[in-house]
Amino acid sequence: MKQGRLIIAANWKMNRAPEGALAEGSPYLPNKDIDVVVFATLLDLRRCIVAGIITGAQYGFPKEKGAYTGETSMQMICEEGAQYVLCGHSERRDPPHNETDEFIAEQVASALKAGIYPILCIGETEKEHDADLTFDVIDRQLKRVTLTPKVTIAYEPRWAIGSGKTPTPSEAQKIHAFIKKKGGSRTLYGGSMNGKNAKDFLKQPDIDGGLIGGASLKPKEFAMIVEAARAITGRITGYA
Ligand code: 13P
Repeated sequence: MKQGRLIIAANWKMNRAPEGALAEGSPYLPNKDIDVVVFATLLDLRRCIVAGIITGAQYGFPKEKGAYTGETSMQMICEEGAQYVLCGHSERRDPPHNETDEFIAEQVASALKAGIYPILCIGETEKEHDADLTFDVIDRQLKRVTLTPKVTIAYEPRWAIGSGKTPTPSEAQKIHAFIKKKGGSRTLYGGSMNGKNAKDFLKQPDIDGGLIGGASLKPKEFAMIVEAARAITGRITGYA
């Protein structure tokens, strides 16, 4: 049995809310056993919040306000009612955004200042994985960030995102154990998590939840992941 609460987070990326997601009985709504969080586009945030869903933004700019055309600050995201924000998702570390470790560290600090929980995304590319550089890359990605107990870390190997490929649960466990020693609170696994493999990842001692892309757009499959997590609850301690 796990202590504390697992997080199952849906990252809808650049997709509108799936049909039925905002209706009564939807698997995206909060439940008593685990934390369910939805990362919607900024345009869907309010609708989700009104429906009772715990939400996060997929990105936020680290300055509070001013002449930054197209940007939305962490403060504004917080005022809108979102409780979480993703920082450094691999799709934003890649072109055309090219977010750097320095910029991502600023985002995490800005989110904390604004009063929302950052979920810092880290993970190696396939090339780095094949060259056995995973731990070096993770070290580098975590180095500049102040990892308070309010920071959640999502390990998302870039080669596993949207590819149907995953590390084995025990490989992922080793990396999560390494990440946990660096600080922060809960650590989530992301990358081709689905209704079938979720349980094997979530039962690993240092995996405290999942950040799910493709499978989170299918309410039935997302519900299977939520149920897998609920079946394992009870173990994590020490997060804010
Ligand atoms: P997939 O679940 O589609 O691999 O995406 C993972 C992800 O990027 C979540 O942030």
